[in-house]
This record gives sequence, structure tokens and C-alpha cells, in this order.
Amino acid sequence: MIDEVVIETKNLNWSYNGTKVLDNVSIDIRFGTFTGILGPNGAGKTTLLKLILNLLQVEKNSILIRGIDIKTYSRKELAQIEAYVPQSVKIDFNFTVEQVVMMGRTPFLGRFDRESSEDIRIADWSMKETGILELKNKLITHLSGGELQRVVIARALTQEPIILALDEPTSHLDIHHQINILSILRTLAKREGLTIVAVLHDVNHALEYCDNIFLLDKGKIVNSGSPENVITPKVMKEVYNLDVNISKNPFTGNPYMVHDYI
Ligand SMILES: Nc1ncnc2c1ncn2[C@@H]1O[C@H](COP(=O)(O)OP(=O)(O)O)[C@@H](O)[C@H]1O
Ligand SMILES: [Mg+2]
Repeated sequence: MIDEVVIETKNLNWSYNGTKVLDNVSIDIRFGTFTGILGPNGAGKTTLLKLILNLLQVEKNSILIRGIDIKTYSRKELAQIEAYVPQSVKIDFNFTVEQVVMMGRTPFLGRFDRESSEDIRIADWSMKETGILELKNKLITHLSGGELQRVVIARALTQEPIILALDEPTSHLDIHHQINILSILRTLAKREGLTIVAVLHDVNHALEYCDNIFLLDKGKIVNSGSPENVITPKVMKEVYNLDVNISKNPFTGNPYMVHDYI
């Protein structure tokens, strides 16, 4: 599986009602990597994520998942490969944390099956990984934004996916919880070989955590590759109209961006 291309898009185009929002997007994402999708508001990031999750209907053979056309998978088969953490999740019902996390097992259960001890083990593992085991009996409506975000990630992990796609997973979190989530994701990629695809806004988080970045602007991939090759002063000026300087984070030794203020 190492080095396997798990997601490939081939000259992918997408329009909403005649307005083109993705233009010839070709990406490939390898097994066990942490890939960041970056770009300004409206660049097409969420649309790209939805396409690779088959939530929007593409033309045949424009997206391959594990080398096979996404259209050939049933919904259930795909749910066993890909899990999605959308940008905002609202759960109004009085479920407990554990019940919500257990919903991740749905793609593996028959219509009238009860959860097995194996399903319970997997849900417990997910709650442990995301640091919410002690919340398991709490009502979902009683959680803070950060706790809820971790519950949604735990539910996705309970799907035991190969690919975890997250849309701005840290946008509602304080700085501690932001890096906590990103570090959990990186650990899962490194240790479990999970393939992470995350839409991120914080460029420094991408520089720190991602193996690869695709930078989207106005529906086109304008740069891709390793973080230090993608995030350059020239590109940041072109895409974000910001003057930036890339130095080194003294704590980690990874590239770190500072920018001028307008
Ligand atoms: N359901 C939709 N119908 C029409 N236009 C949409 C829809 N969803 C997104 N768009 C438009 O498509 C473009 C890309 O949106 P999106 O993929 O959400 O961008 P991003 O996630 O990078 O901010 C934007 O101009 C947005 O207004
Ligand atoms: Mg978006």
C-alpha cells in the first residue's frame, strides 16, 4: 500500500449552474500522507473535497479511488474507504457522544444488525485517540465546539476509513485545540497509515503538518508539492496579495511564515 495513489483526479472540471469553479484539476494523493488543500475563499476547496467523496456527481473516469473509477463503488463500499468531516456539523438530537461515534459503524452493519463487541472496541479506540473517552456518556448537545469537533472526527475514525477528508477542521477551535487536532491527524497518518486530506486556512499549520499541499486559486491548482516548495513569497503575493517572509520555526525547525499587515 505504501506509495499507492489512493486518490487521483484527472483534468477535473466542475460548474455550478454554468459557472466554472474547478478548472482542469489534476491531483494525486498517496497512501498514509497528510495533504493540505489551501487557497482563498471561493477557490473551490470544499467543492473539490465533495467531488472526491462522491457527494457531487462527476463524469466517468475523472476521479479514481484506489485506482478504480469512483462511480463504480456503491455508497456503502465508498463509506468503508472514505470518511468526511464537514466544515460545520449540527446534531440537535439528544444522543450521547458514544451513540454519535457508533454511527460511524453504520456502513458495516446490516439493516437489523446490532453492534458487535468489535464495533464497540473500534468506537472506544476512536474516542481514546481523539481524547473524548471521558465524555462518552455526555449528551452531544452539551458539548463545547472543540469537544463536538473531536466527536465528529471520532465518528469518522470509527468508519475505519483509508481516507479521512476534513473541511477546515480547526476553524472553530482555540489554538491549543487546533494543534491538538492536527497532531492527532498527523499521528494517525504516520502510525496507522491513514490518508488525510484537509482543507486548511492557517498556512503555518500547513507548513508544520502537511507532507504535501495543493494550492487552489479561482478553481485552478496554482502550485503543488512539499510545503516549502508550494508556500513561497512569490506565490503568496500572487494568490493572497500578501508580502511574506519564510523563516524557520525555532521549536520545530520547519518553515514558518510571517507576513506584512495591510
Ligand atoms: N451549491 C452551490 N451552488 C452554486 N455555487 C456554489 C455552490 N457551492 C459553492 N458555490 C460557489 O463555487 C465557488 C467555490 O466554492 P467552494 O468550493 O465552497 O470554495 P472554498 O471552499 O474554496 O471557499 C464559490 O464561488 C461558491 O460561491
Ligand atoms: Mg470551503
